[in-house]
Amino acid sequence: MKTKRVRLGVNLDHIAFIKKSRDTLYPSLADAVKVTEDAGADLITIHLREDRRHMQDADAFEVRECAKVLNFEMAHTPEMVDFALKLKPDFCCIVPEKREEKTTEGGLNLKDLNALDLDLFRTNIGRLREAGIKTSLFIDPDKESVKLSKELGAELIELHTGDYANKFNSIDEFDALGDLSMASSYANDLNLLVNAGHGLNAENLAQICEIPYIQELNIGHSIISQAIFTGLNDAIEKIISIINNCD
Ligand code: PXP
Repeated sequence: MKTKRVRLGVNLDHIAFIKKSRDTLYPSLADAVKVTEDAGADLITIHLREDRRHMQDADAFEVRECAKVLNFEMAHTPEMVDFALKLKPDFCCIVPEKREEKTTEGGLNLKDLNALDLDLFRTNIGRLREAGIKTSLFIDPDKESVKLSKELGAELIELHTGDYANKFNSIDEFDALGDLSMASSYANDLNLLVNAGHGLNAENLAQICEIPYIQELNIGHSIISQAIFTGLNDAIEKIISIINNCD
């Protein structure tokens, strides 16, 4: 396989959701990790939500045991920071979380945080760094959020691509791509590594792969949806071939 310019993280939350829906031991997350890695994905991503609607604590530890590289998405709460310090993922991605949302609907609203909240972010990012965990902040593609991420000590950002995905194939698509491109270049100027994700699929992915400095994509829902029909291996290989064709 040729080296990919853009790495792929596969989010396995929807497999945990099927397991949780019946409280069964299957489908096995360890098996899902193996198939995902064998298919060529670069890392495994999981999101332990505060309401435990899909991943459970035990699932997270099972995935940690077998994943070569783990990206742990979490809300910025004392419970989750403590959990991350026990889990020891390679990366933590801090995301906003609302109980009533279907999925993470936007980036972190760093601009409206008060000095105390900003300090707490700084402290927790530092605690994670001391434990050998690199922190990424999930933000909307705007300059101020990128700048604040740098000031808070994040080593990476993940740009929320949901707005682009919603505007794909509409007159506003290019504006959304422009915002992502601007945020990515600005982050690179500040020496931040740039990831992106949310709402990406086989149709809308190619344009994102062309954006300079994006080094990793995290994709979940569309891959697991495709896997229902053609299997997890095939679904991941299809996404990797799109990424590789963009090189
Ligand atoms: N990246 C982050 C930070 C997310 O919160 C999510 C959704 O859980 C994703 C990527 C993946 O989004 P999707 O499931 O729409 O591919």
